Amino acid sequence: MGGMIEASNLTKRYGGHTAVDRVSFTARPYRVTGFLGPNGAGKSTTMRMLVGLARPDDGEARILGASFVDVPNPGRYVGVLLDASATHKGRTGRETLRLAAMTMGLGDGSVDRALDRVGLSKKEAARRTGGYSLGMRQRLGIAQALLADPAVLILDEPANGLDPSGIRWMRELVRGFADEGGTVLLSSHQLSEVDAVADDIVIMGSGRVQAQGSREELTRSGSLEDAYFAATGDSAREERAA
Ligand SMILES: Nc1ncnc2c1ncn2[C@@H]1O[C@H](COP(=O)(O)OP(=O)(O)OP(=O)(O)O)[C@@H](O)[C@H]1O
Ligand SMILES: [Mg+2]
Repeated sequence: MGGMIEASNLTKRYGGHTAVDRVSFTARPYRVTGFLGPNGAGKSTTMRMLVGLARPDDGEARILGASFVDVPNPGRYVGVLLDASATHKGRTGRETLRLAAMTMGLGDGSVDRALDRVGLSKKEAARRTGGYSLGMRQRLGIAQALLADPAVLILDEPANGLDPSGIRWMRELVRGFADEGGTVLLSSHQLSEVDAVADDIVIMGSGRVQAQGSREELTRSGSLEDAYFAATGDSAREERAA
């Protein structure tokens, strides 16, 4: 099942600070949409609004045509990786996935398939996640996102903590997912990540969309780095000064 992610005028304020300011974009099936921007640009906050973990002060988020919070059992349609370090450290990897599978009404077969897909061995899955490396935690988080074979993946900084082979694996997984008709929204503050994997790119800075388009469009007159600094140059400086 293919599905779009649509953000329209999403806005989030914290105190007097507007963390996300009228952000609009669409992520489409068969495409990897890179959500690029410096630290503090508002990427995670936007993603949290997309999946109903933060309430927009204005605007709206739709996934597969509905608001995420209105979709019954949303994990079956949308795989989410937000903060990979947030897992219960006393549980094993397999227990973590079993619980998630149970919540979604899935059998144990889905757990084995997901472990296999992310390359976590039976032995690794039997260990408590408190002892996992950052890379293993990312893999487990991806496994959880993939459990129900969703149409949409929302991944916040999935490359964080991965070594070069892990990064290559992640890129191939995301590419394969999109090639089969899935929709991927992937955030990163790293140009190289987005350049390597994204078909469409939304460049964030200071809570706003500073530029967006296909990778070809954005790099027509130079590198992605050029486009990035042209779009965020001032906002990146503002954020460092703040
Ligand atoms: N719960 C919160 N309370 C107050 N301010 C917040 C909260 N969450 C985020 N912010 C602020 O919103 C802004 C955007 O933060 P956000 O985490 O969305 O950025 P980001 O683009 O994901 O950055 P990074 O690359 O560091 O992950 C920042 O100024 C941050 O301090
Ligand atoms: Mg973030």
